[in-house]
Amino acid sequence: MSEPEEIDIHTTTGKLADLQRRVHEATHAGSERAVEKQHAKGKLTARERIELLLDEDSFVEFDEFARHRSTDFGMESNRPYGDGVVTGYGTVDGRPVAIFSQDFTVLGGSLGEVFGQKIMKAMDFALKTGCPVIGINDSGGARIQEGVMALGMYGEIFRRNTHASGVIPQISLVVGPCAGGAVYSPAITDFTVMVDQTSHMFITGPDVIKTVTGEDVGFEELGGARTHNATSGVAHHMAGDEKDAIDYVKQLLSYLPSNNLSEPPSFPEQADLTLTDEDRELDTLVPDSANQPYDMHTVIEHVLDDAEFFETQALFAPNILTGFGRVEGHPVGIVANQPLQFAGCLDIDASEKAARFVRTCDAFNVPVLTFVDVPGFLPGVGQEHEGIIRRGAKLIYAYAEATVPLITVITRKAFGGAYDVMGSKHLGADLNLAWPTAQIAVMGAQGAVNILHRRTIAAAPESEREEVRTRLIQEYEDTLLNPYTAAERGYVDAVISPSDTRRHLIRGLRHLRTKRESLPPKKHGNIPL
Ligand code: HXC
Repeated sequence: MSEPEEIDIHTTTGKLADLQRRVHEATHAGSERAVEKQHAKGKLTARERIELLLDEDSFVEFDEFARHRSTDFGMESNRPYGDGVVTGYGTVDGRPVAIFSQDFTVLGGSLGEVFGQKIMKAMDFALKTGCPVIGINDSGGARIQEGVMALGMYGEIFRRNTHASGVIPQISLVVGPCAGGAVYSPAITDFTVMVDQTSHMFITGPDVIKTVTGEDVGFEELGGARTHNATSGVAHHMAGDEKDAIDYVKQLLSYLPSNNLSEPPSFPEQADLTLTDEDRELDTLVPDSANQPYDMHTVIEHVLDDAEFFETQALFAPNILTGFGRVEGHPVGIVANQPLQFAGCLDIDASEKAARFVRTCDAFNVPVLTFVDVPGFLPGVGQEHEGIIRRGAKLIYAYAEATVPLITVITRKAFGGAYDVMGSKHLGADLNLAWPTAQIAVMGAQGAVNILHRRTIAAAPESEREEVRTRLIQEYEDTLLNPYTAAERGYVDAVISPSDTRRHLIRGLRHLRTKRESLPPKKHGNIPL
């Protein structure tokens, strides 16, 4: 290796060279060994991640020469530039974003006072300018040597996450460890994306758990990407690798406005309203038997531009689908029961998943399309004891407070309380449509007949009971299991052929673009948590 060139900082040329030397030091703050270790784990460095996420040459860095002033535990001899986090702003698809990217190769990405202040500056900048903030988390957590200063910084970040909530989109990429209270920053943000095998989130790790409860659990099972995507619902996407994670974030941003005062980006293109063969495919989708499932994805894909459904939380509560798409180039949010999973029943997880999604759409001016095929809330002692009452109430609350355009399509069952909950007219939906296959009633035929006609059935001779029951079920189905009672009262605005759905949604969304609605002034509501 050649000797570094002598720099005379008393000359202008020397001062420029000195700057270059410092920039080089800042951009190579992690040791070669630490970078190699990072790569060996299949992980990228903080700067490589920024490079992948932002448009080429758009990154402008803040505070690259910031460094800690700690002196305890030999820290005075280890003061890397940047302090273990890279922060700044740039663009994604030409749109401004602020970013912080924790650098595990420097002090284990641990968060101390200066590290925290850098993140706060990036967040404040995002809030002031009204652009999304993207946090890339890969950290050993609170910097142990800095004690309470580190904890204080986390608190400052949480407060900023909370103040920014509903104002600017906040997206967290968890691409390494994220432990202890550190998990609460991603948890407050709108979306969390994790990478299979290399991301871990937990409040207390396996060792502490073993000591306290005696449970044996590994990192992956405790808080890996699959666990948080499929079981806890903490994360919204499980990526195969970091590139996949970053691509997901870029796409996600394309459906969201820069802030709550602007509209989401659109690529308006006048849709062709002539009926197509693809539209007609929906006319044969719903099976004759009400007990036979079908895939609600098919409906969603038939109404969205290019059949592109960008699903969120795909692995969590699969009995309800949430995600984004576009209609005539304008972003929409989708909430849909999925008859393929638990017959599309609403349970605690499904209610919370959908409630959070509806609120996200409402905060960021994204209209919500709801597709309903729901036999009711999931019965069970477990559900009741875990709070389906207060937790299911969140979904009602979310729909009832939403002021974005709301369009609901009932494809088949809309039974009981679940009829009300799933974007009904009564909660404030703007347009409610039903297919002729819709069954809008207090409950399904079996249950209804057992209650209404228990005595009649019991009184019939045993040999005739099944026949009587079948006749009564038929009678109930013919009388009540249709959309026309609701249509008679205007609870649905129209009963339409399934093939007409796309055209109705396009026309409805066009008209609702000018919708203005506001709620009574208040400090804030009190959503049941
Ligand atoms: C200071 C830390 C650190 C920390 C890691 N390092 N975590 N330094 N404070 N919290 C340093 C290590 O000493 C090491 O330094 C370098 O970072 C890389 O760490 P390794 O242990 O070599 O990496 P690895 O083997 O990959 O293990 C990663 C790890 C482990 C599992 C994250 O480092 C670990 O358990 N760290 C402590 C995690 C923790 O308990 N954090 C506090 C959580 S509580 P050298 O110099 O050797 O390279 C918390 C509270 C937040 O964060 C509260 C908010 C309210």
